[in-house]
Amino acid sequence: MPKLEIEQFACLSDNYAVLIHDPEAGVTASIDAPDARAILARLQAKGWTLTQILVTHHHGDHTGGNLALKEATGCTIIGPKGESERIPGIDKEVSEGDVIAFGNFKINVLETPGHTLGHIAYWIPDAKVAFVGDTLFAMGAGRIFEGNAEMMWKSLQKIARLPADTEIYCGHEYTQTNARFALTLEPDNLALVNRAQEVDQLRRNNKPTLPTRVDRELETNPFLRPHVTAIRAKLGMLYAPDWHVFAAIRERKNKS
Ligand SMILES: [Fe+2]
Repeated sequence: MPKLEIEQFACLSDNYAVLIHDPEAGVTASIDAPDARAILARLQAKGWTLTQILVTHHHGDHTGGNLALKEATGCTIIGPKGESERIPGIDKEVSEGDVIAFGNFKINVLETPGHTLGHIAYWIPDAKVAFVGDTLFAMGAGRIFEGNAEMMWKSLQKIARLPADTEIYCGHEYTQTNARFALTLEPDNLALVNRAQEVDQLRRNNKPTLPTRVDRELETNPFLRPHVTAIRAKLGMLYAPDWHVFAAIRERKNKS
C-alpha cells in the first residue's frame, strides 16, 4: 500500500493548512489555501511541488491563497460545483460521488452542505483520512451560515458514518472551546472529561489537537450525540427527533 504523507500546520488566526503528498507519484495537494505565503514556505521546506488545491468551500480563509499559489506553481484548483463561481481560479468542479485521481490514491468527494450550501469534504479510503473543512470540528461542528439545521445534521452524519478509524482533518483549531461547551452538556461523559484534559495539555504546549478520528468524535462530540439521554434530558427534549436536538445544541453553542 503506497504511503500518503500529510503535513498540517497552523496559519492565519486559527486556521490549519494541510498538504498531502504521494512521494511515489510526486504529487502534492493543498487542502484549501488559507495562506499562500505559509503554504509556499512549507512546500519549499519539504521539497514538494504543488500540483492541486482541493477547496472545501468559498470562505476567504479557505480560498484567499488560491490565485497566488496557482501563479507560483501552476497547480490545478478543484472545488465544489455548488459554489464554483465563488472559488477564485477554479479549474475543475466536483460534486457528490466524484472521484479525483491523486497519484496512487483516489479521493472521494462528499457533499456536506450547511456551513455553506456547496461545502464538500474529501475522503481518501486507502489512506483512512478525510478532510472536512468547516463541517465537523473536534468536539464541535461548523456554524450554519447558508443551510439549515436538518441539512447540516445530514452532512455530519455522512462524516460520522465513515469507517471508525478514519482520521479527520478540520479547518480550524477550535477544540478547547468546543470541549468546554461539550462538558456543559455531558459533564459525566468520562471519555469527554479525559479528552478535555488532554486537549488542555496539548494547547498549553501550543500543540495541535487535530487530526481527530471518527470513533473519538462519536464518543465525545455532542453534535454527533443527540440520541444520548443525558443530553436530551439537559435540553428538555427527551422525545424530539435527533436533528431537532442537534439544532438545539447548535443554538445553545451559538449563544455560549
Ligand atoms: Fe468557513
